[in-house]
Amino acid sequence: MPNGVGAFFFEVCDSTNARAATLAIAGEPGPLWVVAGEQSAGRGRRGRSWTSKTGNLYASLMFRPHIRPQDLAALPFIVALAVRDTFLAFGAPESHVQCKWPNDILIGERKASGVLIESSAKHGGMLDYVIIGIGMNLVHFPDDAAFGATSLLHVTGQEVSVKDAATVLAEKLYARIDAWKVDDFRSVAEEWTRYSWGLGQSRELRTHDETFTATLLGLSDDGALIARLDDGLEKRLYAGDVFPVERAD
Ligand code: BTN
Repeated sequence: MPNGVGAFFFEVCDSTNARAATLAIAGEPGPLWVVAGEQSAGRGRRGRSWTSKTGNLYASLMFRPHIRPQDLAALPFIVALAVRDTFLAFGAPESHVQCKWPNDILIGERKASGVLIESSAKHGGMLDYVIIGIGMNLVHFPDDAAFGATSLLHVTGQEVSVKDAATVLAEKLYARIDAWKVDDFRSVAEEWTRYSWGLGQSRELRTHDETFTATLLGLSDDGALIARLDDGLEKRLYAGDVFPVERAD
């Protein structure tokens, strides 16, 4: 781990994000990592669960930036880029590693990593803590996921240990968080866009209450996905998932 960063390792825990929140609420100053060999209640985005058997990476970084919640717009994309850097460091082919809004990482158009960012604010509106939870499919992947999945082992034939992956991920994420300028969303957005999956193309978008097809246009300054509907209307998505368009044969 980079200097001055704490780390807790559990063979098994419920959720590294939940553990990191407990430590934050108990007054741990952070930054600190919680890494688990297995999770019994791994959490995904939008209330889903995250399959967490031994062999893959389950890690959460808790830290306390002195900024406001609205300043976090770039963070999901910064994290996605750091996860991408990590897959590249372990031999994933550069052109195959793509970012899918909001912060999934695909290898060969299949999901290899998911990120769950949670935060809490103090009275007065500044953030108290931020938790970045990262799951990386190192050796296995679910075969029943809504979006087809893969693992680093499946793609490269190389088995990477949780320890090695956590070490490289911590370095890559730290470098990117260090370089982060809260008032410069565009440079992060530009880099993320370069590696993004589906921009300029038609995709199926699913939110909590609707599913529709639209052309993905890019990111707004507050991190929303801008999409153009078939009637020309532009929509901004703040939460949801992107899928390939199902084609009827
Ligand atoms: C998603 O794609 O839905 C996000 C998945 C995030 C999973 C990681 S695994 C480590 C951390 N702890 C959790 O409970 N969830 C995140």
